Amino acid sequence: MAYSIDVHLSAEEVRSQMRADALHGLRGQFKSIPPVWFYDERGSGLFEEITQLPEYYPTRAERALLHEHAGSIAGLAKADTLVELGAGACDKTRVLLAALREAGTLSRYIPFDVSDQFLRGAAGALADEFELLDIHLVIGDFHRHLPEIPADGRRLVAFLGGTIGNLDPRQRARFLFDLNCTMSSDDTLLLGTDLVKDRHRLVAAYDDAAGVTAEFNRNVLRVLNEQLGADFVPDRFRHVAVWNEEEQWIEMRLRAEEATSVSLTGAGFTVTFEKGEDLLTEISAKFTPARVEHELFEAGFVVEEMWGAGEGEFLLTLAHPLC
Ligand code: AVJ
Repeated sequence: MAYSIDVHLSAEEVRSQMRADALHGLRGQFKSIPPVWFYDERGSGLFEEITQLPEYYPTRAERALLHEHAGSIAGLAKADTLVELGAGACDKTRVLLAALREAGTLSRYIPFDVSDQFLRGAAGALADEFELLDIHLVIGDFHRHLPEIPADGRRLVAFLGGTIGNLDPRQRARFLFDLNCTMSSDDTLLLGTDLVKDRHRLVAAYDDAAGVTAEFNRNVLRVLNEQLGADFVPDRFRHVAVWNEEEQWIEMRLRAEEATSVSLTGAGFTVTFEKGEDLLTEISAKFTPARVEHELFEAGFVVEEMWGAGEGEFLLTLAHPLC
């Protein structure tokens, strides 16, 4: 069970970031909170359940693409190191690790995430499964700690699941630019993005019949209660999922069913919600292949190969830094 771990983010730093996000997001005219705070233990478990729902196609679609094309990806990347951004439970990784091992180039795996919650257990299991693999966990956040990821060797940097869709276009441009700055011309980026499709299917994926996504959405209020001493009553908020056609993203919102006042003791302020007022909890942007290519190009990447375009539901893109 051998792995090493670098922690760039303490529990106290995480809490102070949450406090800053709450201050910034809850006191403006339009209330919002970043989706990163969904994922405590309960939230991560609920997300795991979401990935198995009949309506939630992205995880299955991406897994099928990875299974089909891992060999080609490994052959093109020729990487000795797999870096996985937002690794979570590391379960998409297995197929990529196996393909890189098959290609004979693999020596190191670097999962990167904001929380070590699932990372440690997953890393232990992978260490048993992939003998001789050097596993190096890095705990940090996307905005500040990309430069802390070891940059030696020839790396395949995977950012999967469509998680880049949680960022708006400006944040994506910044993120991809920052990432590009940390990559060398031998490195390769593997990006998973969800594709624009029939809006009823999109909305259903974020508003399932069993109500799991609604529970996942409301979980952010529980996290705020626990971490910031807030007194949200989650049941007073209704889960809303809408397709924003102009922005080409899904919005998840929590709508106050009645006027309510919430105090966040640990953050030192109180907020009031009018009846029917929304808290925006997540955007999940959907792409066209052309848009992915364009955004990558603007950030200094050239696309080498795309899988899943056309009639596909989901897209995997392999790209490398221009210079
Ligand atoms: C983990 C960010 C890719 O946007 O589809 C699932 C999160 N939110 N259902 C997504 C999510 C509601 C998911 N990502």
